[in-house]
Amino acid sequence: MQSIVILGRQPALGLAELESLYGHASVVPVSEHAAGLTLPASEVDFTRLGGSTRLGTVVATLQSKLWKDVEKQLAKSIVEIAGTLPEGKLQLGLSTFGIPITPAKLNASGLTLKKIVRSKTDRSVRLTPNPELELNTAQVLHNHLTGQTGIELLIIATPDGNTIIARTTMVQDIENYTLRDRGRPKRDARVGMLPPKLAQIILNLAAGQTPAAADRIILDPFCGTGVVLQEAMLVGLSVYGTDLEPRMIDFTRTNLDWLIEQTEGLESEILLEPGDATTHQWNPAPDLVAGETYLGRAFTEKPSPEVVAQTSTEVNLILKKFLKNIHSQLKPGTPLCLAVPAWQTSPDRFKHLPLIDQLSELGYNRTRFEHVRDEQLLYYREDQIVARELIVVTRK
Ligand SMILES: C[S@@+](CC[C@H](N)C(=O)[O-])C[C@H]1O[C@@H](n2cnc3c(N)ncnc32)[C@H](O)[C@@H]1O
Repeated sequence: MQSIVILGRQPALGLAELESLYGHASVVPVSEHAAGLTLPASEVDFTRLGGSTRLGTVVATLQSKLWKDVEKQLAKSIVEIAGTLPEGKLQLGLSTFGIPITPAKLNASGLTLKKIVRSKTDRSVRLTPNPELELNTAQVLHNHLTGQTGIELLIIATPDGNTIIARTTMVQDIENYTLRDRGRPKRDARVGMLPPKLAQIILNLAAGQTPAAADRIILDPFCGTGVVLQEAMLVGLSVYGTDLEPRMIDFTRTNLDWLIEQTEGLESEILLEPGDATTHQWNPAPDLVAGETYLGRAFTEKPSPEVVAQTSTEVNLILKKFLKNIHSQLKPGTPLCLAVPAWQTSPDRFKHLPLIDQLSELGYNRTRFEHVRDEQLLYYREDQIVARELIVVTRK
């Protein structure tokens, strides 16, 4: 294992994304918070990952979970790393994942480490203060911990009693995500707000390991305001969007034009047209399909089981028609990732669309993940009724 990522709020999605992009043999699940990769951090295209919040290079794996052993290793690693950094005051930060210590103890260790580094390297160190066990992304950036003289160490407990220490090389660029989300000229609360991070995950689950190139066309047949297509353009795919509502096509066009203006050197073939996904003829045929489908009614309060059943039947019918319609238009082997609705009926229990059990009859093979079960591919917040379930398939 050469590098490590800290997984986002829904770790299974982050794991599936890594597996899709780098192949299952390159991914080593480490704990509920982190995944290892057999490739170096420099080969991970981190800005593409929607499901991971930090990337780091593994500096040591300790066959112990005792804090005094971890502290010793931290001192050794920091002194070694300090020797490789340019002149100047060192910025140090510590983040732990699954380690049973208190923030006070972690800060005390930080101060001890600061003294050790000072005495061994004669360099001054600024420790990033932290009332928590983990620094957040903004703290890492604000304190320049990924800068030239910065060191953030990630200290990760594994279930088998080992401790992995990694040095952060990249953190999620929150500002850029916020710009891509809230900065867009056209947003629409009614069609929903797909977070760009989830759009990246959907895209990556569809795109797999095939390199993105301008001669590959991605289709979003329910493109709405174009969040998935925005992310697809940023990785260099040509984009094709259709939606039932002509107004949505205008919204997508405005948003994609805006993104091109915002992003230096970004060019892309863009094809947009209104179309009902249950009957539309797409021309040319896309190389991959990714999107968030029609999700049915939005609910502000818990609906009765009858209403959930009714909504599910309605959405199921439309999506089945769509899957049948597009089937004959896709080349065998075309990958698809669709975010479809599932309804949270009680905490962590979901009503799924019936079509999920009929994918094979509809002419699609479900893509299986080594490290994640299909039913874990769900994106939701605790209080959300309509969750998004990600179905990853290829056309038979
Ligand atoms: C949940 S929204 C997708 C939002 C999108 N991810 C975005 O970036 O804004 C679903 C979209 O599907 C469209 N839609 C609903 N029924 C459709 C159909 N039969 N064919 C095509 N689009 C449809 C709606 O107009 C809506 O824009």
